[in-house]
Amino acid sequence: MRGSWWREGVFYQIYPRSFQDSNGDGVGDLAGITRRLDHLNDGTPASLGIDAIWISPFYRSPMKDFGYDVSDYRDIDPTFGTLGDFDRLLEEAHRRGIRVLVDLVPNHTSDQHPWFVESRSSRDNPKRNWYVWADPRRGGPPNNWRAVFGAREKRSAWTLDPATGQYYLHHFLPEQPDLNWWNEEVRRAIDDVMRFWLDRGVDGFRIDVAHSLVKDQRLRDNPRLFAKRRPRHNWELDEVHEIHRRWRRVLDEYDDRMAVAEVSSRKLANLVRYYGNDDELQMPFNFNFLRQPWSAERFRAVVEEWERLLPHHAWPDYTLSNHDRSRAASRYGPRRARVAALMLLTLRGTPFIYYGEEIGMTDVTIPPERIVDVDGRDGERTPMQWDATPNAGFSTGRPWLPMAPDAQRVNVAAQRDDPGSLFSFYRRLIRLRHGSPALRSGSYRTLPAPRGVFAYVREAEGGRYGVGLNFTDRARRVGFARPARLVLSTSTDREGSAELGEFDLAPNEGVLAQLS
Ligand code: GLC
Repeated sequence: MRGSWWREGVFYQIYPRSFQDSNGDGVGDLAGITRRLDHLNDGTPASLGIDAIWISPFYRSPMKDFGYDVSDYRDIDPTFGTLGDFDRLLEEAHRRGIRVLVDLVPNHTSDQHPWFVESRSSRDNPKRNWYVWADPRRGGPPNNWRAVFGAREKRSAWTLDPATGQYYLHHFLPEQPDLNWWNEEVRRAIDDVMRFWLDRGVDGFRIDVAHSLVKDQRLRDNPRLFAKRRPRHNWELDEVHEIHRRWRRVLDEYDDRMAVAEVSSRKLANLVRYYGNDDELQMPFNFNFLRQPWSAERFRAVVEEWERLLPHHAWPDYTLSNHDRSRAASRYGPRRARVAALMLLTLRGTPFIYYGEEIGMTDVTIPPERIVDVDGRDGERTPMQWDATPNAGFSTGRPWLPMAPDAQRVNVAAQRDDPGSLFSFYRRLIRLRHGSPALRSGSYRTLPAPRGVFAYVREAEGGRYGVGLNFTDRARRVGFARPARLVLSTSTDREGSAELGEFDLAPNEGVLAQLS
């Protein structure tokens, strides 16, 4: 069925600088990813078993924001390889049944992109209007909009270009000028970039900053409210939906492709609008798990509200980590991270796993002299830990970011043959999910549970599973209200009968049970 691969599959995000280096320069590359595809899915239970990868940007870039500043949307940065390497990666992934999403960055380009170089060259250049240029106001920036990077320093989203005497807009670094999405030529140029990759055979896109794009044409100041500035005029304007509908039409020119949009709406009622009438992008990311404290009630509230808001045609997704956020194992600790993984992989919705989460990688403290990111995100981007060889098998050169101090102990090789390892837990869960229509695509229903426990049922014709997650540091007595057989627990030391009537969940334990 059309669309079933992304509804029923498990996604895995690869940050290409940090996955596998193949040429010893200390930076991961496309050939490295190809070499490691068997870890992701080799068709046997030895591999993780995921269905799709999203690769963060690998296009030509001056790397001010490590690839999120693109200077050529249609070529690979030499650090990562060549278009030939990309084609090989795509072919090898497809051969293993792994779909591939590439990262589209349409809100801004690099200041080195030929479009911007032209645009800034003079006020009457034909590309001037491809970016957002404005005259100074009272000798300063055109309005009070602020950049996302440097929010704490209250940095303006505008930079003066002395040569032409105007300011240009950039919501991230000054080296990332925002495109002018009111301009039809810009819209067409990005459609063509999409077609370039779709023609090459990619299965879709993760779309960067997809909620922003269009900004108030009159460049009105954002209002101040309670001493805070609300980004009313530069974030989530209604016109953005028109662009998402346009992109959907481009995707629909092809067979069964999809896109997932980075939308940072905090309010789910806002987020749900991005599903449109099944005529926008297939899914917006739901980042709300990343913002919750460790509380059963809080996670349950997110899931219940989301289930209530979603129209019939809309399919949810969830994620616990990405390249912009602290890792789950660091936020929650190892024991709880397992409970969180059980939740992620048993809820109704496509799970997105960030590389390294399957072995419990944690944020690394980066010594000041090795900090390279502009926004403090190096800690969650350190190289993948493969084995106990030097640099954990990531590179024969000096890794671009330090390896985790525990990399010799925490790695794929060490966990592969250990049935109690987190990697084994992920593998089992993903296989269970694949094998069960109830877990893959069945309905969701919350179960009554004591304080601090989040419990639910997933059900489809011919199958029913119960999940109980204890978020507290105390044992909690629970039951699934019908005969239940234990399938798996986050605790390797669970003892007693596999038949679960009323039973005790250990502190921070989660169980999956088959219900009759
Ligand atoms: C998105 C990306 C982030 C990047 C920013 C600017 O939020 O996830 O990594 O820095 O956009 O492109």
